[in-house]
Amino acid sequence: MEENSRTSFFITTPIYYVNDIPHIGHAYTTIIADAISRFKKLAGYDVFFLTGTDEHGQKVEKAAQEKGMNPIQLADNVVVRFKKLWDALDIAFDSFIRTTQPFHEQGVQKIFQKLKDKGDIYKGIYEGWYCVSDETFLSEDVPLEDGGHKICADCGKKANVVSEECYFFKLSAYEKPLIDFYQKNPTFVRPKSRMNEVVSFVRQGLKDLSITRTTVKWGISLPDDSAHTIYVWFDALHNYLTGIGYDRDPQLFDKYWPATLHLIGKDILRHHAVFWPAFLIAAGFPLPKTVYAHGWWLKDETKMSKSKGNVLDPWTILNVFGPDPLRYFLLREIPIGLDGNFSHEGFIHRVNSDLANDLGNLAQRLLTMIHNYFGGQINTPGEETDKDKKLRLSFDTLKEKVGHHFEDYAINKALEEIWVYINAVNKYLADNEPWKLSKDDSQRARLGRILYQAACALRGICYLLYPVLPESSQKMWQLLGEKKPLEEELYSELAFFNLKRDQKIHKPKPLFPRVDLKDFLKEEESMDIITFDDFKRMDFRVGEIIEAERVEGTDKLVKMQVNIGKETRQMIAGIADKYAPEELMGKKVVVIVNLKTAVIRGIESQGMLLAAEVGGKAIIPVFTEDVPAGAKVR
Ligand code: MSP
Repeated sequence: MEENSRTSFFITTPIYYVNDIPHIGHAYTTIIADAISRFKKLAGYDVFFLTGTDEHGQKVEKAAQEKGMNPIQLADNVVVRFKKLWDALDIAFDSFIRTTQPFHEQGVQKIFQKLKDKGDIYKGIYEGWYCVSDETFLSEDVPLEDGGHKICADCGKKANVVSEECYFFKLSAYEKPLIDFYQKNPTFVRPKSRMNEVVSFVRQGLKDLSITRTTVKWGISLPDDSAHTIYVWFDALHNYLTGIGYDRDPQLFDKYWPATLHLIGKDILRHHAVFWPAFLIAAGFPLPKTVYAHGWWLKDETKMSKSKGNVLDPWTILNVFGPDPLRYFLLREIPIGLDGNFSHEGFIHRVNSDLANDLGNLAQRLLTMIHNYFGGQINTPGEETDKDKKLRLSFDTLKEKVGHHFEDYAINKALEEIWVYINAVNKYLADNEPWKLSKDDSQRARLGRILYQAACALRGICYLLYPVLPESSQKMWQLLGEKKPLEEELYSELAFFNLKRDQKIHKPKPLFPRVDLKDFLKEEESMDIITFDDFKRMDFRVGEIIEAERVEGTDKLVKMQVNIGKETRQMIAGIADKYAPEELMGKKVVVIVNLKTAVIRGIESQGMLLAAEVGGKAIIPVFTEDVPAGAKVR
């Protein structure tokens, strides 16, 4: 196909706030986008996949302040965390935009000015309830609580009344154009239930939107009115234009805009399905094709979010399993659009059964047989019988169905279909019992056909799974002896017999380890997380050892008198095998002083000394500068 004749496909994720490190919820959206983008590339589309970070606004400003950092320092740190996670999850984005990049800031200023010149932006006074955590004004219909305040429906936090001079965007003027647009484009918002939600919201009437702040310093400023910064949502949404070359690379921009698919969580539907098209209509840009709102991953039945403190760290799983099992689980477990409850039990169960048993065993068993019976090379398989043909024809049907589901963004359905087929291949092997035929020389051609047929099926499965399991598919692809990278075979070229007969198939390597739930949870428990409050309850001090003597009859124990500022405490420590009592005298160490008194060998110990444990021996940490006894350590 000619480079310029390919249909372009521009796919985006939300740009994530940098007030905190990424969790499984963020990973979910990005994984969906990656799988769709990989499929579309296979299908021959000219894909551009954009992700990035949303770095301005009060939320980030506050988080930085709490951490004693500049907002940009915080952003720089968190961006590294996001990129590291995307790398570990095999996310192949084409560009990563940060809203603090000058080209973005300039682009946003330019569009702002354009709307102002056009009369779509005007100055006024805003008064309303504002949720800092979500950076959003509450809608007017949120009722007052008993205490006379309002609560943000999304995050459950208390909102504040804000009254300030600001610029407004004339959203009310776009009610009719939006309704017309929704009517002409009923799949603009997906799933359908969300489209209905959006239409009824707009039908209730739209108020003008406040789009600048004088109370927030950390934002894009207005060049001609520097007391104002641009509201973080106005700023952020335009990343979809600036990230694809608006006002910077017209060729790129014309090639990919309008976006084909904005993937978002349902929490930010209104911003993407109402405000965003209104801004675009006002500025004269063509509108995106689809905004797809997926559901939430819940933990203990509530949305995982930083503000609720119930986020799951993807690294717990990634460190043990690598990227594919997590990608598979998130995409297989729920249809895009519904909520899912995340549990480690559910995760382990699913990956052990589907990946380790069904798929992993199929590959392992099959490749081992090809190796053992044919030295890895099946040159002359026998004739294809009706049973063999059935396996081939059902692959053709599978390919069509999977293609259709991916085109429809129904990844979980595609995976369901692929698994029906994997089980059919397992059954084909079980029914044909190649291990029995291998004992009979006269059955060699038949044996060759069965294994070749199953290997063709495995090649096809491996190809179809690539968007979801890029790492393991590529490994399997190579084990099957393919030299050409998988991505170079177009979806339209994929055929059952693409596996060459004399291709040298390699010895299998286990692709998906089976992990025992108990072992996994044990590992997790060993990293028992405590809260900051738990930590604060521990009173650590600098203690000066003023006396030390060995406890008689023991190898390890030393009895010490430790000056902790206001008093002297007696403590027992197991460090005599490393330090002689004389050596300890005068040393400044770290001790915990609010630990319950213990009696060791009949002697009271009124505190505990901290030491590193290396090869069974205790090593005491030292201070790099002189510190007074009793100083708090935290
Ligand atoms: N910065 C805005 C988006 C601006 S886009 C122009 C924002 N950022 S966020 O960091 O809060 O990320 C929100 C997105 O992360 C959600 O829309 C969703 O894609 C994803 N998720 C965050 N928590 C989630 C779950 N618990 N479950 C699933 N996805 C979730 O909003």
